[in-house]
Amino acid sequence: MPTVVFIDPHGSEHAVEAPDGRSLMQVAIDHAVPGILGDCGGVCSCATCHGYVDPAFLDQLPPRSETEVFMLEGVPDLRGNSRLCCQIRMQPALAGMRIQLPDEQV
Ligand code: FES
Repeated sequence: MPTVVFIDPHGSEHAVEAPDGRSLMQVAIDHAVPGILGDCGGVCSCATCHGYVDPAFLDQLPPRSETEVFMLEGVPDLRGNSRLCCQIRMQPALAGMRIQLPDEQV
């Protein structure tokens, strides 16, 4: 099974198996990765699943929806590679992707 790598706010790396079609937020929660909360359960209404995705994979991701853009406006340190992990579903092209988690969620 492909893996993705979450880097928690303390710099520790967590390489976790990511089933095809599962959201990256849920993948992180499944593996108790610290630094991601997913408070709304993945319906894009809390922004506690913020992460910075590896820029090399940005063109493999679906574009941000209007709702995701709106929710990201409230995160503490918005960057060009900011995404909400609940809005990204695992697919083969994302194998090996690294996601840095922010120092703090909302
Ligand atoms: S889990 Fe709430 S916005 Fe992603």
